[in-house]
Amino acid sequence: MTDPGERLRSSLAADQSASSGMADFDSPIAMEALRATRVLHAADQEPFPPPARIRIITIANQKGGVGKTTSTVNLGVALALYGLRTLVIDLDPQGNASTALGVDHTVGTPSIYDALVGDSTLTEVVHQTTASPHLLCVPATIDLAGAEIELVSVVAREHRLRRAIEGYIAALPPERRPHYVLIDCPPSLGLLTLNALVAGDEVLIPIQCEYYALEGLGQLLNNIDLVRQHLNPGIAVRTILLTMYDGRTKLADQVADEVRNHFGDVVLNAVIPRNVRVSEAPGYGQSVLTYDPGSRGSTSYVEAARELAHRGVNLPPIDSTSTPGAATRFAVADAAAPQNRQ
Ligand SMILES: Nc1ncnc2c1ncn2[C@@H]1O[C@H](COP(=O)(O)OP(=O)(O)O)[C@@H](O)[C@H]1O
Ligand SMILES: [Mg+2]
Repeated sequence: MTDPGERLRSSLAADQSASSGMADFDSPIAMEALRATRVLHAADQEPFPPPARIRIITIANQKGGVGKTTSTVNLGVALALYGLRTLVIDLDPQGNASTALGVDHTVGTPSIYDALVGDSTLTEVVHQTTASPHLLCVPATIDLAGAEIELVSVVAREHRLRRAIEGYIAALPPERRPHYVLIDCPPSLGLLTLNALVAGDEVLIPIQCEYYALEGLGQLLNNIDLVRQHLNPGIAVRTILLTMYDGRTKLADQVADEVRNHFGDVVLNAVIPRNVRVSEAPGYGQSVLTYDPGSRGSTSYVEAARELAHRGVNLPPIDSTSTPGAATRFAVADAAAPQNRQ
């Protein structure tokens, strides 16, 4: 069976039929499996609702290893498997998102580099993924490592990605336009991330539930504020996703509470647990949803994507998002906020 959507459904069906005859669910693991199956199966009955407008979401956090790529890939696959056309743009020279989506990113492969630094259109560098027919990916090759420097001399260098995405969407008939564009940023605040912040309408920040999780966040939010003031008035931090949550530690709860106190409703209720299947999946060129659909990593990403999708139904128009949002609130309370530095 090659179609991952089909594999997901059949895995769910198998779990379902196995569980329906089992009244004596007494082990915690079996209970968890049953819950996971039900959650996934219920969602499968009900496709996610399309957003009010095309959502271009920049997944950013200049810290490395917080789950940017993992979240981009798994949210992207979840949205696509539940019926929403999704485009993942890999903006990290390491190309991890491309790997996890089974998309070739060896040197010479048409990639985001060709659209940012060269003259290619996104249409020319977009690839189909193996995860879902609804999921496309623009891969990143190692060439992109040079783009931070090469872009410096390019005209309108901060707007390259935005222009490329706008051109791509405009060239498609409405029924083929993506509902979601997810941009996976590198772990830095250089020109690549700046391009992603100018291109996006909103930012999703993954935060790892561990010590120092909030360190550096003020700097990211400052940058987003500066981008809002000077380059992209519509940008807003609309989503925060808690990742790698370890329920056995008090620390994880403390971090989660602190993040929720700071950001309120922007934080998704769904939390991604630390789950070994999540980290194994990319080794097989897969998302955790296609690699192990019943795992907690998979079900939690489906939950997060479902919440993201439902929140997308009633989005405010782009212009009104330039009113102070969560990022501004946080930044105002932050000593290093641009307003306070003047
Ligand atoms: N929920 C999770 N459970 C276990 N491992 C995870 C989880 N999320 C991410 N990882 C692993 O942590 C590492 C860093 O994640 P990644 O998404 O690459 O971070 P970033 O893109 O922010 O640098 C990777 O090896 C990834 O497989
Ligand atoms: Mg990454």
